[in-house]
Amino acid sequence: MSKPNTRAIAAKILTELQKGNGSLSSHLTKQTELSDHALLQETLYGSCRWFHLLEWLLNQLLSRPLKAKDIELKSLLIVGLYQLRELSIPNYAVINETVSAADRLGKSWGRSLVNGVLRNYLRTQTELEEQLGAAPLSVTSSHPGWFVDELLEQWPDQSEQILAHNNFRPPMTLRVNLQATTRDEVLEALHAEAISASPGALCEASVYLQQPRAVECLPGFKEGKLSVQDEASQLAVGLLALRPGQTVLDACAAPGGKTCHILESERLLTSILALDKGSNRLLRVQENLTRLGLEASLACADATDTQNWWNGEGFDRILLDAPCSATGVIRRHPDIKLLRSQESLHSLQLSQRNLLHALWPCLKSNGLLLYTTCSILQQENQSIIEGFLQRTDNAKYEGIAADWGVECRYGRQLLAGANDGPDGFFFCLLRKT
Ligand SMILES: C[S@@+](CC[C@H](N)C(=O)[O-])C[C@H]1O[C@@H](n2cnc3c(N)ncnc32)[C@H](O)[C@@H]1O
Repeated sequence: MSKPNTRAIAAKILTELQKGNGSLSSHLTKQTELSDHALLQETLYGSCRWFHLLEWLLNQLLSRPLKAKDIELKSLLIVGLYQLRELSIPNYAVINETVSAADRLGKSWGRSLVNGVLRNYLRTQTELEEQLGAAPLSVTSSHPGWFVDELLEQWPDQSEQILAHNNFRPPMTLRVNLQATTRDEVLEALHAEAISASPGALCEASVYLQQPRAVECLPGFKEGKLSVQDEASQLAVGLLALRPGQTVLDACAAPGGKTCHILESERLLTSILALDKGSNRLLRVQENLTRLGLEASLACADATDTQNWWNGEGFDRILLDAPCSATGVIRRHPDIKLLRSQESLHSLQLSQRNLLHALWPCLKSNGLLLYTTCSILQQENQSIIEGFLQRTDNAKYEGIAADWGVECRYGRQLLAGANDGPDGFFFCLLRKT
């Protein structure tokens, strides 16, 4: 059997993402056996990150636009252009391999087209890159037009920075289990193994690694002294004001980052229920609890279907880490640029509204509900809260006094940092009166 062609595989996956099928990480997980897995991963992350810019370059290089049915060939050309533009593989190797990938895709008729476009790019690169300077912001920043328009309207002063930061490679951030060790001890153990790391500025448990590492190799990971979690996510638990004896519901819990952090932060809770509607994702919650030596009740259920899982006893604290567009974590998941559309926001907003509405009766009087998303779009954040407050007499908005993020009319918003700061994340606290 002939060796798999990494570019052909990349083109197939990029095509699926353009069609809205799966996510980059789910496609990559199916390719772990590939000997060139690291190259596949680098190529796909980069091709997604720079997709809109590369698509523009491609259009300048084609004498006639490709037909919709030739989407795989278009993906292959984008992959080739990414490799020529960003990777240090010799140009001849990129061209030869990309041309043979056309055969592997069953599109031998496209060999001369691929060869011609890639060679033409190399010939006209300087000129094209100059023209690029005058292209629209959605091209130069490589984001979908609808998203750029939303940013210019919602974050006029920060939009340029958000777009730039979204194209950075994200940091790898750890959460130290402060029940098991201290941050200083973890930093010392990392430095002893020549791993460059520094403490985060926003959370007492956060540590930033200078270079990403396989988690299993980090000292203390297997013993449950640390977990991987962005610093923005780590802020959520502090806002819950946890106390001994409280009952907590983590309504959208998987993979369990915040469930575990809640338990690490307050060991004397009376109970914590971690709900999620994804059964496979719930397995990840249990894995994380087991590794950290923690215990929680788990239930696989749709949180809106309260009759199915709720025994009628109110919770002191509810965390609703709602499903969202993930537009705050584009630097981590550049495939979001291809997967989200303005239309896809509508169904997310509906889920967010329904979840908040269904969970509110489960909160005790004087209890706190923390609503969070990793979105930076108002329609999933303050608008959801505003609508809810208008409909709900016994809900009171509680401001978050903090020196991080942007205070919004309702809630507080973190915007994604460069490669040394937290993800984009929204937080809003509601109290039941
Ligand atoms: C943003 S993720 C949660 C991340 C998690 N809180 C953490 O910190 O690791 C959102 C989760 O909501 C779950 N979800 C979406 N709709 C749900 C619903 N109606 N009921 C329960 N879980 C839901 C998804 O399966 C997904 O795991």
